[in-house]
Amino acid sequence: MSRTLVEPFRIKMVEPVRVTTEAYREEALRNTGFNPFLLNSDDVFIDLLTDSGTGAMSQAQWAGMIMGDESYAGARSWLDLEKEVKDLSGMEYVLPTHQGRASERILFGILGGKGKYFLSNTHFDTTRANIENTGATAIDLMPEESMEPDTYLPFKGNIDLKSLVSSINSLGKENIAGIVITVTNNSFGGQPVSMASVEAVRVICDRENILLILDGCRIAENSYFIKHRESGYEEWSYREIAQKMLRLADAFILSAKKDGLVNIGGLLCMKDYALSLKCTNQLILSEGFSTYGGLAGRDMQAMAIGLREVFEPDYLEYRIKSTAYLGERLRNMGIPVLWPIGGHAVYVDAGQLFPHILPHEFPGQALVCELYVRGGIRSVDVGSVMFGKFDSEGNFTPARKELVRLAIPRRVYTQSHIDYVLDIFKEIKEMDQILSGFKILYEPPFLRHFTVRFEKINPKIIEGNDGAGT
Ligand code: F0G
Repeated sequence: MSRTLVEPFRIKMVEPVRVTTEAYREEALRNTGFNPFLLNSDDVFIDLLTDSGTGAMSQAQWAGMIMGDESYAGARSWLDLEKEVKDLSGMEYVLPTHQGRASERILFGILGGKGKYFLSNTHFDTTRANIENTGATAIDLMPEESMEPDTYLPFKGNIDLKSLVSSINSLGKENIAGIVITVTNNSFGGQPVSMASVEAVRVICDRENILLILDGCRIAENSYFIKHRESGYEEWSYREIAQKMLRLADAFILSAKKDGLVNIGGLLCMKDYALSLKCTNQLILSEGFSTYGGLAGRDMQAMAIGLREVFEPDYLEYRIKSTAYLGERLRNMGIPVLWPIGGHAVYVDAGQLFPHILPHEFPGQALVCELYVRGGIRSVDVGSVMFGKFDSEGNFTPARKELVRLAIPRRVYTQSHIDYVLDIFKEIKEMDQILSGFKILYEPPFLRHFTVRFEKINPKIIEGNDGAGT
Protein backbone atom coordinates (compact mmCIF):
# COMPACT_ATOMS: atom_id res chain seq x y z
CA MET A 1 0.00 0.00 0.00
CA SER A 2 1.36 3.41 -0.88
CA ARG A 3 1.92 5.87 1.92
CA THR A 4 0.24 9.26 2.27
CA LEU A 5 2.06 12.06 0.50
CA VAL A 6 3.30 14.15 3.40
CA GLU A 7 4.41 17.77 3.21
CA PRO A 8 8.19 17.90 3.96
CA PHE A 9 7.79 20.85 6.33
CA ARG A 10 6.11 21.87 9.55
CA ILE A 11 4.01 25.01 9.84
CA LYS A 12 5.54 27.68 12.06
CA MET A 13 3.42 30.69 11.21
CA VAL A 14 -0.19 30.63 10.11
CA GLU A 15 -2.13 32.89 7.80
CA PRO A 16 -5.86 32.61 8.43
CA VAL A 17 -8.12 32.22 5.42
CA ARG A 18 -11.74 33.30 5.57
CA VAL A 19 -14.64 30.98 4.90
CA THR A 20 -17.51 32.88 3.25
CA THR A 21 -21.01 31.83 2.24
CA GLU A 22 -22.11 30.93 -1.24
CA ALA A 23 -24.48 33.94 -1.32
CA TYR A 24 -21.64 36.26 -0.36
CA ARG A 25 -19.39 34.85 -3.06
CA GLU A 26 -22.10 35.08 -5.68
CA GLU A 27 -22.49 38.78 -4.93
CA ALA A 28 -18.70 39.36 -4.83
CA LEU A 29 -18.28 37.67 -8.20
CA ARG A 30 -21.15 39.59 -9.81
CA ASN A 31 -19.50 42.82 -8.65
CA THR A 32 -16.33 41.90 -10.56
CA GLY A 33 -18.19 41.27 -13.84
CA PHE A 34 -17.58 37.54 -13.28
CA ASN A 35 -13.81 37.99 -13.49
CA PRO A 36 -12.08 36.45 -10.45
CA PHE A 37 -8.89 38.42 -11.23
CA LEU A 38 -10.83 41.39 -9.84
CA LEU A 39 -11.80 39.71 -6.55
CA ASN A 40 -10.26 40.74 -3.25
CA SER A 41 -8.06 37.90 -2.03
CA ASP A 42 -9.81 38.03 1.36
CA ASP A 43 -12.88 36.74 -0.45
CA VAL A 44 -10.98 33.71 -1.76
CA PHE A 45 -10.67 30.53 0.31
CA ILE A 46 -8.21 28.53 -1.82
CA ASP A 47 -6.31 30.54 -4.38
CA LEU A 48 -5.20 28.51 -7.39
CA LEU A 49 -5.08 31.53 -9.70
CA THR A 50 -1.31 31.30 -10.06
CA ASP A 51 1.83 29.71 -8.70
CA SER A 52 3.65 32.98 -9.34
CA GLY A 53 4.88 34.89 -6.31
CA THR A 54 2.37 33.06 -4.14
CA GLY A 55 4.72 30.54 -2.51
CA ALA A 56 5.77 30.39 1.14
CA MET A 57 9.38 31.17 1.95
CA SER A 58 11.43 28.97 4.25
CA GLN A 59 12.90 29.96 7.60
CA ALA A 60 16.30 30.21 5.90
CA GLN A 61 14.90 32.68 3.38
CA TRP A 62 13.25 34.79 6.08
CA ALA A 63 16.49 34.79 8.03
CA GLY A 64 18.26 35.86 4.83
CA MET A 65 15.86 38.78 4.48
CA ILE A 66 16.97 40.16 7.83
CA MET A 67 20.55 39.98 6.57
CA GLY A 68 19.67 41.81 3.33
CA ASP A 69 22.11 44.55 2.35
CA GLU A 70 20.17 47.57 1.11
CA SER A 71 23.11 49.44 -0.40
CA TYR A 72 22.32 51.08 -3.71
CA ALA A 73 25.41 49.71 -5.44
CA GLY A 74 27.47 46.55 -4.97
CA ALA A 75 25.29 45.17 -2.16
CA ARG A 76 26.41 41.94 -0.48
CA SER A 77 22.98 40.45 -1.21
CA TRP A 78 23.51 41.10 -4.90
CA LEU A 79 26.96 39.49 -4.85
CA ASP A 80 25.47 36.41 -3.15
CA LEU A 81 22.74 36.21 -5.78
CA GLU A 82 25.10 36.79 -8.69
CA LYS A 83 27.45 34.04 -7.45
CA GLU A 84 24.56 31.60 -7.08
CA VAL A 85 23.16 32.37 -10.53
CA LYS A 86 26.53 32.22 -12.29
CA ASP A 87 27.11 28.81 -10.76
CA LEU A 88 23.64 27.63 -11.74
CA SER A 89 23.52 29.02 -15.27
CA GLY A 90 27.17 29.16 -16.30
CA MET A 91 26.39 32.58 -17.77
CA GLU A 92 28.86 35.40 -17.33
CA TYR A 93 26.41 38.31 -17.32
CA VAL A 94 23.62 38.32 -14.74
CA LEU A 95 21.14 41.15 -14.28
CA PRO A 96 18.48 41.38 -11.58
CA THR A 97 14.97 42.55 -12.52
CA HIS A 98 11.78 43.03 -10.54
CA GLN A 99 10.06 40.13 -12.34
CA GLY A 100 10.11 38.01 -15.48
CA ARG A 101 8.33 40.39 -17.81
CA ALA A 102 10.87 43.15 -17.10
CA SER A 103 13.57 40.77 -18.38
CA GLU A 104 11.36 40.07 -21.39
CA ARG A 105 10.77 43.73 -22.15
CA ILE A 106 14.49 44.54 -21.99
CA LEU A 107 15.72 41.54 -24.00
CA PHE A 108 13.01 41.49 -26.66
CA GLY A 109 13.10 45.28 -26.91
CA ILE A 110 16.73 44.92 -28.02
CA LEU A 111 16.39 41.80 -30.17
CA GLY A 112 12.91 42.38 -31.59
CA GLY A 113 11.38 44.91 -33.96
CA LYS A 114 9.35 44.88 -37.16
CA GLY A 115 10.16 42.02 -39.53
CA LYS A 116 11.76 39.88 -36.78
CA TYR A 117 10.47 36.50 -35.69
CA PHE A 118 10.76 34.51 -32.48
CA LEU A 119 10.08 30.78 -32.59
CA SER A 120 9.13 28.86 -29.46
CA ASN A 121 7.63 25.67 -28.10
CA THR A 122 5.02 28.05 -26.61
CA HIS A 123 5.49 31.69 -25.71
CA PHE A 124 3.95 32.54 -22.36
CA ASP A 125 1.37 35.35 -22.71
CA THR A 126 3.60 38.14 -21.33
CA THR A 127 6.48 36.86 -23.48
CA ARG A 128 4.31 37.01 -26.59
CA ALA A 129 2.95 40.44 -25.61
CA ASN A 130 6.45 41.84 -25.05
CA ILE A 131 7.64 40.45 -28.39
CA GLU A 132 4.60 41.73 -30.28
CA ASN A 133 4.93 45.09 -28.59
CA THR A 134 8.24 45.58 -30.46
CA GLY A 135 6.54 44.88 -33.79
CA ALA A 136 8.07 41.39 -34.02
CA THR A 137 6.12 38.15 -34.50
CA ALA A 138 5.97 35.29 -31.99
CA ILE A 139 5.30 31.82 -33.42
CA ASP A 140 4.52 28.71 -31.36
CA LEU A 141 5.63 25.39 -32.82
CA MET A 142 4.11 22.42 -31.01
CA PRO A 143 3.97 19.00 -32.64
CA GLU A 144 0.54 17.62 -33.58
CA GLU A 145 1.00 14.53 -31.39
CA SER A 146 1.32 16.69 -28.26
CA MET A 147 -2.06 18.31 -28.94
CA GLU A 148 -3.93 15.12 -28.09
CA PRO A 149 -5.04 15.88 -24.51
CA ASP A 150 -5.32 12.31 -23.29
CA THR A 151 -2.23 10.56 -24.67
CA TYR A 152 0.76 10.04 -22.46
CA LEU A 153 4.01 11.45 -23.79
CA PRO A 154 6.90 11.96 -21.36
CA PHE A 155 7.91 15.35 -22.81
CA LYS A 156 4.80 16.93 -24.21
CA GLY A 157 6.33 20.40 -23.82
CA ASN A 158 8.96 19.85 -26.55
CA ILE A 159 9.10 22.11 -29.60
CA ASP A 160 8.38 20.50 -32.98
CA LEU A 161 11.85 20.24 -34.49
CA LYS A 162 10.59 19.64 -38.03
CA SER A 163 8.46 22.79 -38.05
CA LEU A 164 11.32 24.67 -36.42
CA VAL A 165 13.63 23.84 -39.31
CA SER A 166 10.98 24.52 -41.96
CA SER A 167 10.03 27.85 -40.31
CA ILE A 168 13.68 28.95 -40.27
CA ASN A 169 13.96 28.05 -43.97
CA SER A 170 10.77 29.78 -45.00
CA LEU A 171 11.21 32.93 -42.88
CA GLY A 172 14.95 33.25 -43.50
CA LYS A 173 17.44 32.68 -40.70
CA GLU A 174 18.50 36.33 -40.78
CA ASN A 175 14.95 37.26 -39.70
CA ILE A 176 14.84 34.91 -36.71
CA ALA A 177 15.80 36.98 -33.68
CA GLY A 178 15.74 34.05 -31.30
CA ILE A 179 14.38 30.65 -30.39
CA VAL A 180 12.64 30.74 -27.01
CA ILE A 181 12.29 27.45 -25.15
CA THR A 182 9.93 27.71 -22.19
CA VAL A 183 10.57 25.13 -19.44
CA THR A 184 8.26 23.81 -18.28
CA ASN A 185 5.81 24.76 -21.00
CA ASN A 186 3.37 26.82 -18.92
CA SER A 187 0.84 27.66 -21.60
CA PHE A 188 0.84 24.04 -22.62
CA GLY A 189 -0.11 22.19 -19.47
CA GLY A 190 3.11 22.80 -17.52
CA GLN A 191 4.52 19.94 -19.60
CA PRO A 192 8.26 19.27 -19.43
CA VAL A 193 10.89 19.71 -22.12
CA SER A 194 13.54 17.01 -22.55
CA MET A 195 17.27 17.60 -22.53
CA ALA A 196 17.50 15.88 -25.91
CA SER A 197 15.08 18.39 -27.38
CA VAL A 198 17.05 21.41 -26.11
CA GLU A 199 20.26 19.77 -27.34
CA ALA A 200 18.72 19.38 -30.79
CA VAL A 201 17.64 23.04 -30.79
CA ARG A 202 21.21 23.99 -29.81
CA VAL A 203 22.56 22.16 -32.86
CA ILE A 204 20.11 24.04 -35.10
CA CYS A 205 21.02 27.36 -33.47
CA ASP A 206 24.73 26.71 -34.00
CA ARG A 207 24.18 25.74 -37.62
CA GLU A 208 21.96 28.73 -38.43
CA ASN A 209 23.63 31.21 -36.09
CA ILE A 210 20.46 31.93 -34.09
CA LEU A 211 20.24 32.90 -30.42
CA LEU A 212 18.81 30.29 -28.02
CA ILE A 213 16.86 31.82 -25.12
CA LEU A 214 15.66 29.70 -22.24
CA ASP A 215 12.60 30.93 -20.33
CA GLY A 216 13.42 28.92 -17.24
CA CYS A 217 10.84 29.98 -14.62
CA ARG A 218 10.21 26.34 -13.73
CA ILE A 219 13.60 24.84 -14.52
CA ALA A 220 13.76 22.85 -11.25
CA GLU A 221 10.36 21.23 -11.87
CA ASN A 222 11.52 20.43 -15.40
CA SER A 223 14.67 18.80 -14.00
CA TYR A 224 12.52 16.50 -11.88
CA PHE A 225 10.81 15.15 -14.99
CA ILE A 226 14.14 14.69 -16.80
CA LYS A 227 15.64 12.69 -13.94
CA HIS A 228 12.59 10.43 -13.77
CA ARG A 229 11.67 10.16 -17.46
CA GLU A 230 14.74 10.67 -19.66
CA SER A 231 17.28 7.93 -19.81
CA GLY A 232 20.83 8.75 -18.79
CA TYR A 233 19.88 11.19 -16.01
CA GLU A 234 18.86 8.75 -13.28
CA GLU A 235 22.04 9.40 -11.27
CA TRP A 236 22.19 13.17 -11.85
CA SER A 237 21.10 15.63 -9.18
CA TYR A 238 18.23 17.98 -10.10
CA ARG A 239 20.60 20.91 -9.95
CA GLU A 240 23.14 19.26 -12.24
CA ILE A 241 20.38 18.66 -14.79
CA ALA A 242 19.36 22.33 -14.64
CA GLN A 243 23.01 23.39 -14.92
CA LYS A 244 23.44 21.30 -18.04
CA MET A 245 20.28 22.65 -19.69
CA LEU A 246 21.11 26.27 -18.90
CA ARG A 247 24.57 25.86 -20.41
CA LEU A 248 22.95 24.97 -23.72
CA ALA A 249 21.34 28.42 -23.95
CA ASP A 250 22.77 31.80 -24.95
CA ALA A 251 20.41 33.73 -22.69
CA PHE A 252 18.21 32.85 -19.72
CA ILE A 253 15.16 34.76 -18.51
CA LEU A 254 13.67 33.87 -15.19
CA SER A 255 10.67 34.93 -13.22
CA ALA A 256 11.98 34.02 -9.76
CA LYS A 257 8.37 34.12 -8.50
CA LYS A 258 8.14 30.46 -9.48
CA ASP A 259 11.17 28.22 -8.92
CA GLY A 260 13.11 31.07 -7.29
CA LEU A 261 10.72 30.46 -4.36
CA VAL A 262 10.27 34.19 -3.77
CA ASN A 263 7.32 36.57 -3.87
CA ILE A 264 9.02 39.01 -6.24
CA GLY A 265 12.09 39.00 -8.46
CA GLY A 266 13.50 38.09 -11.83
CA LEU A 267 16.73 37.60 -13.74
CA LEU A 268 18.15 38.26 -17.18
CA CYS A 269 21.34 36.35 -17.93
CA MET A 270 23.45 35.97 -21.04
CA LYS A 271 26.79 34.88 -22.41
CA ASP A 272 27.41 37.71 -24.85
CA TYR A 273 29.20 40.83 -23.60
CA ALA A 274 27.87 43.24 -26.24
CA LEU A 275 24.28 42.15 -25.61
CA SER A 276 24.82 42.45 -21.86
CA LEU A 277 25.91 46.08 -22.26
CA LYS A 278 22.74 46.96 -24.16
CA CYS A 279 20.58 45.15 -21.59
CA THR A 280 22.39 46.85 -18.69
CA ASN A 281 21.70 50.27 -20.19
CA GLN A 282 18.02 49.47 -20.58
CA LEU A 283 17.88 48.06 -17.06
CA ILE A 284 19.34 51.23 -15.56
CA LEU A 285 16.89 53.33 -17.55
CA SER A 286 13.75 51.73 -16.18
CA GLU A 287 14.44 49.16 -13.45
CA GLY A 288 17.36 50.41 -11.40
CA PHE A 289 21.12 50.10 -11.16
CA SER A 290 22.61 46.84 -12.36
CA THR A 291 23.23 45.52 -8.85
CA TYR A 292 19.59 45.70 -7.74
CA GLY A 293 17.38 46.06 -10.84
CA GLY A 294 14.28 47.20 -8.96
CA LEU A 295 14.65 44.77 -6.06
CA ALA A 296 15.39 45.35 -2.41
CA GLY A 297 18.58 43.75 -1.10
CA ARG A 298 16.46 41.42 1.05
CA ASP A 299 14.57 40.21 -2.04
CA MET A 300 17.85 39.27 -3.71
CA GLN A 301 19.06 37.51 -0.57
CA ALA A 302 15.86 35.44 -0.41
CA MET A 303 16.19 34.60 -4.11
CA ALA A 304 19.78 33.41 -3.73
CA ILE A 305 18.61 30.99 -1.03
CA GLY A 306 15.42 29.98 -2.87
CA LEU A 307 17.32 29.07 -6.03
CA ARG A 308 19.30 26.53 -4.02
CA GLU A 309 16.42 25.18 -1.90
CA VAL A 310 14.25 24.51 -4.91
CA PHE A 311 16.54 21.68 -6.01
CA GLU A 312 16.29 19.79 -2.70
CA PRO A 313 15.05 16.28 -3.54
CA ASP A 314 12.42 16.11 -0.75
CA TYR A 315 10.93 19.42 -1.81
CA LEU A 316 10.84 18.64 -5.54
CA GLU A 317 9.40 15.18 -5.09
CA TYR A 318 6.62 16.52 -2.86
CA ARG A 319 6.02 19.39 -5.27
CA ILE A 320 5.56 17.28 -8.40
CA LYS A 321 3.68 14.50 -6.62
CA SER A 322 1.27 16.87 -4.91
CA THR A 323 0.30 18.41 -8.26
CA ALA A 324 -0.18 14.90 -9.64
CA TYR A 325 -2.26 14.01 -6.54
CA LEU A 326 -4.89 16.57 -7.54
CA GLY A 327 -4.74 15.81 -11.26
CA GLU A 328 -4.89 12.05 -11.01
CA ARG A 329 -7.83 12.11 -8.62
CA LEU A 330 -9.75 14.50 -10.86
CA ARG A 331 -9.10 12.19 -13.80
CA ASN A 332 -10.26 9.13 -11.83
CA MET A 333 -13.44 11.05 -11.01
CA GLY A 334 -14.11 11.50 -14.74
CA ILE A 335 -13.10 15.16 -14.92
CA PRO A 336 -11.21 15.61 -18.22
CA VAL A 337 -7.68 16.88 -17.55
CA LEU A 338 -4.65 17.46 -19.73
CA TRP A 339 -2.61 14.29 -19.47
CA PRO A 340 -0.05 13.59 -18.12
CA ILE A 341 -0.18 16.06 -15.23
CA GLY A 342 2.46 18.81 -15.49
CA GLY A 343 4.63 20.35 -12.80
CA HIS A 344 2.93 23.38 -11.34
CA ALA A 345 -0.73 23.09 -12.29
CA VAL A 346 -3.59 20.88 -13.34
CA TYR A 347 -5.41 21.88 -16.52
CA VAL A 348 -9.08 20.90 -16.73
CA ASP A 349 -10.71 20.63 -20.15
CA ALA A 350 -13.87 22.65 -19.56
CA GLY A 351 -14.90 22.33 -23.21
CA GLN A 352 -15.26 18.60 -22.68
CA LEU A 353 -16.80 18.99 -19.22
CA PHE A 354 -19.48 21.42 -20.42
CA PRO A 355 -20.07 20.50 -24.07
CA HIS A 356 -23.33 22.46 -24.13
CA ILE A 357 -21.46 25.76 -23.67
CA LEU A 358 -20.03 26.86 -27.02
CA PRO A 359 -16.45 28.18 -27.16
CA HIS A 360 -17.60 31.78 -27.78
CA GLU A 361 -19.68 31.48 -24.60
CA PHE A 362 -16.54 30.56 -22.63
CA PRO A 363 -17.02 27.15 -20.96
CA GLY A 364 -13.77 27.71 -19.05
CA GLN A 365 -15.16 30.85 -17.46
CA ALA A 366 -18.29 28.92 -16.46
CA LEU A 367 -16.11 26.43 -14.57
CA VAL A 368 -13.98 29.19 -13.04
CA CYS A 369 -17.12 30.93 -11.74
CA GLU A 370 -18.72 27.73 -10.45
CA LEU A 371 -15.56 26.76 -8.55
CA TYR A 372 -15.53 30.15 -6.92
CA VAL A 373 -19.21 30.40 -6.02
CA ARG A 374 -19.43 26.84 -4.74
CA GLY A 375 -16.09 26.52 -3.02
CA GLY A 376 -14.36 29.89 -2.81
CA ILE A 377 -11.69 28.43 -5.12
CA ARG A 378 -10.04 30.84 -7.53
CA SER A 379 -8.73 29.52 -10.85
CA VAL A 380 -8.21 30.96 -14.33
CA ASP A 381 -9.48 30.29 -17.85
CA VAL A 382 -6.57 29.60 -20.18
CA GLY A 383 -8.93 28.85 -23.07
CA SER A 384 -10.89 31.30 -25.18
CA VAL A 385 -11.01 34.02 -22.52
CA MET A 386 -7.22 34.20 -22.74
CA PHE A 387 -6.61 33.23 -26.36
CA GLY A 388 -9.88 33.49 -28.32
CA LYS A 389 -10.11 36.37 -30.79
CA PHE A 390 -12.97 38.33 -32.37
CA ASP A 391 -12.18 39.93 -35.74
CA SER A 392 -13.53 43.33 -36.84
CA GLU A 393 -16.72 41.66 -38.14
CA GLY A 394 -17.31 39.93 -34.84
CA ASN A 395 -16.28 36.46 -36.05
CA PHE A 396 -14.77 34.39 -33.30
CA THR A 397 -11.67 32.20 -33.47
CA PRO A 398 -11.61 30.06 -30.32
CA ALA A 399 -8.54 28.85 -28.43
CA ARG A 400 -7.32 25.36 -29.30
CA LYS A 401 -8.71 24.02 -26.02
CA GLU A 402 -11.06 25.42 -23.39
CA LEU A 403 -8.77 24.86 -20.42
CA VAL A 404 -8.99 26.02 -16.82
CA ARG A 405 -5.74 26.13 -14.87
CA LEU A 406 -5.54 25.12 -11.23
CA ALA A 407 -2.06 26.37 -10.31
CA ILE A 408 -0.60 25.17 -7.04
CA PRO A 409 1.29 27.74 -4.96
CA ARG A 410 4.55 26.34 -3.56
CA ARG A 411 4.57 25.08 0.07
CA VAL A 412 1.24 26.81 0.85
CA TYR A 413 -1.62 24.32 0.84
CA THR A 414 -1.78 20.94 2.55
CA GLN A 415 -3.34 17.75 1.30
CA SER A 416 -6.63 18.50 3.06
CA HIS A 417 -6.96 21.78 1.13
CA ILE A 418 -6.52 19.79 -2.06
CA ASP A 419 -9.02 17.16 -0.88
CA TYR A 420 -11.51 19.99 -0.40
CA VAL A 421 -10.91 21.11 -4.01
CA LEU A 422 -11.66 17.53 -5.06
CA ASP A 423 -14.92 17.61 -3.05
CA ILE A 424 -16.04 20.74 -4.90
CA PHE A 425 -15.26 19.14 -8.26
CA LYS A 426 -17.29 16.09 -7.23
CA GLU A 427 -20.27 18.36 -6.50
CA ILE A 428 -19.87 20.10 -9.85
CA LYS A 429 -19.69 16.76 -11.63
CA GLU A 430 -22.86 15.58 -9.96
CA MET A 431 -24.94 18.75 -10.12
CA ASP A 432 -28.17 18.62 -12.03
CA GLN A 433 -28.48 22.22 -13.14
CA ILE A 434 -27.12 23.35 -16.48
CA LEU A 435 -24.50 26.06 -16.26
CA SER A 436 -24.74 29.00 -18.58
CA GLY A 437 -22.00 30.63 -20.61
CA PHE A 438 -20.87 34.24 -20.71
CA LYS A 439 -20.83 37.24 -23.01
CA ILE A 440 -18.08 39.87 -22.93
CA LEU A 441 -19.21 43.34 -21.81
CA TYR A 442 -15.78 45.01 -21.78
CA GLU A 443 -12.36 43.94 -22.98
CA PRO A 444 -9.01 45.75 -23.05
CA PRO A 445 -6.88 45.82 -26.25
CA PHE A 446 -4.37 43.21 -24.97
CA LEU A 447 -3.95 40.66 -22.15
CA ARG A 448 -7.73 40.52 -21.98
CA HIS A 449 -8.12 38.08 -19.09
CA PHE A 450 -6.84 40.51 -16.46
CA THR A 451 -9.59 43.11 -16.75
CA VAL A 452 -12.34 41.64 -18.96
CA ARG A 453 -15.94 41.90 -17.65
CA PHE A 454 -18.74 39.50 -18.54
CA GLU A 455 -22.46 39.07 -18.24
CA LYS A 456 -24.17 35.72 -17.86
CA ILE A 457 -26.13 34.29 -20.77
CA ASN A 458 -29.43 32.71 -19.77
CA PRO A 459 -29.07 28.93 -19.55
CA LYS A 460 -30.39 27.07 -22.56
CA ILE A 461 -32.19 23.78 -22.20
CA ILE A 462 -30.61 21.32 -24.58
CA GLU A 463 -32.46 18.13 -25.35
CA GLY A 464 -30.74 15.05 -24.02
CA ASN A 465 -28.33 16.99 -21.85
CA ASP A 466 -28.80 15.96 -18.30
CA GLY A 467 -26.38 18.10 -16.42
CA ALA A 468 -22.74 18.94 -16.22
CA GLY A 469 -21.75 17.14 -19.40
CA THR A 470 -19.53 14.12 -19.73
N1 F0G B 1 7.42 33.15 -18.53
C1 F0G B 1 6.63 32.19 -18.03
C2 F0G B 1 6.75 30.79 -18.55
C3 F0G B 1 5.69 32.48 -17.03
O1 F0G B 1 4.92 31.51 -16.55
C4 F0G B 1 5.60 33.82 -16.56
C5 F0G B 1 4.61 34.18 -15.55
C6 F0G B 1 6.45 34.78 -17.10
C7 F0G B 1 7.35 34.42 -18.08
C8 F0G B 1 6.40 36.23 -16.65
O2 F0G B 1 6.91 36.36 -15.37
O3 F0G B 1 4.99 37.19 -14.00
O4 F0G B 1 7.34 37.38 -13.20
O5 F0G B 1 6.52 38.81 -15.04
N2 F0G B 1 3.65 33.47 -15.25
C9 F0G B 1 2.62 33.72 -14.26
C10 F0G B 1 1.59 32.64 -14.32
C11 F0G B 1 2.06 35.08 -14.28
O6 F0G B 1 0.55 32.80 -13.64
O7 F0G B 1 1.78 31.63 -15.00
P1 F0G B 1 6.40 37.49 -14.35
